[in-house]
Amino acid sequence: MTRKPLSYYQSIPEETLRNRIDSIRRRMGARLRILVHYYQKEEILAIADDVGDSYGLSAAASKSGCEVILFCGVRFMAETADILANAKREGNRRVTVVSPNPDAGCRMADMATLAELENAWRLLGEAVGTEGLVPVTYVNSSAEVKAFCGKHGGYACTSSNALAVMRRVFANPDSRVFFLPDQQLGRNVAAWMGFPPEQVFSYHGGNSVVKTNVQQLVRDGFLPAGSVEELTPAAELDRDAVGAAKVILWDGFCPLHQRFTVEQIDRARRARPDVKVVVHPECPREVVARSDEAGSTKKILDLVAAAEDASVWAIGTERRMVEALQRDFPTKTILPLSDEMPMCHSMNTITLASVCRALEGIESGYPDGVVTVEREIAQPALLALERMLQCKG
Ligand code: 13P
Ligand code: SF4
Repeated sequence: MTRKPLSYYQSIPEETLRNRIDSIRRRMGARLRILVHYYQKEEILAIADDVGDSYGLSAAASKSGCEVILFCGVRFMAETADILANAKREGNRRVTVVSPNPDAGCRMADMATLAELENAWRLLGEAVGTEGLVPVTYVNSSAEVKAFCGKHGGYACTSSNALAVMRRVFANPDSRVFFLPDQQLGRNVAAWMGFPPEQVFSYHGGNSVVKTNVQQLVRDGFLPAGSVEELTPAAELDRDAVGAAKVILWDGFCPLHQRFTVEQIDRARRARPDVKVVVHPECPREVVARSDEAGSTKKILDLVAAAEDASVWAIGTERRMVEALQRDFPTKTILPLSDEMPMCHSMNTITLASVCRALEGIESGYPDGVVTVEREIAQPALLALERMLQCKG
């Protein structure tokens, strides 16, 4: 069935789009749930049934009880929702997960492919063996990477429960962790666990996807020159160093959170000595170490919500989240940690126009943008995701 292109919907006035969306929601009732991540625009947050961080939205998907989920976030989130929402399905009835833009990827998730992970696992095995080595993937990863972790006794984790997952793994003191794709979350959690730097090894096995990403980002002027070396430590797989490591880090990162600096924190403190600095743990280790608090988007929200009126906060995360805090807490001073207010462009591709188009497709019975994870990948990925959901942050 042919549907009008997105450009047609983009020409419709916002008020009309809102009315069309509301009508579909009313007609579909409990058969439809709209899940929205905190980085979405105000108008998308306003139509949510559930708003949350990655952990909260995963939990919401796993007990959605609806026929269709419209997921307003990036692709790995929709894939995760598809796996979890269909984990206990009966017969042929599936929960259909639709994304208003299924091409909205996460640049960090793209920095670890299954082929690269398999190669890394083989190299690590040759160097020091994989006995006791537990793969832990940040949920910002492909379903294939999660499936690899599930098959190898590993876990997925989110920024809200990465520490709880690590504690679970290290309940066995002989364990070692291979953490991917986010080197920064991995490094932060290793530090919170009390591992000294010599027990944390930065893996770099000629990872072409990371390198291409970094070089492109430098060319685009999005990361400063020199980042390639800093971000992809060209460590050889030296048996002694890998053998001594309790945590081995993949060399991925979030291009947006990588831009926060210690200098920004120092500047914020000079300008407002009473400021509390809170950042997302995808920020570099030195930034997290210099902050007052670090946590998932939900934790950032909870901290600001619980704070006294007139308190002052500098927030180190995505622009839309900072704007939402400024709107929702007018009695508190909410400052962006960085004047440039970095934005996740993938998240930002979702608009009322793309949501309206997706919903009209759903209602017609011929939806576009369906995100489905094949059974052979979904089943092992589910193992990693279920272990993730069992660890509360
Ligand atoms: P949260 O789980 O903290 O919402 O993080 C998701 C994310 O992609 C942050 O960049
Ligand atoms: Fe991925 Fe960074 Fe966007 Fe989060 S903010 S979805 S980690 S690219």
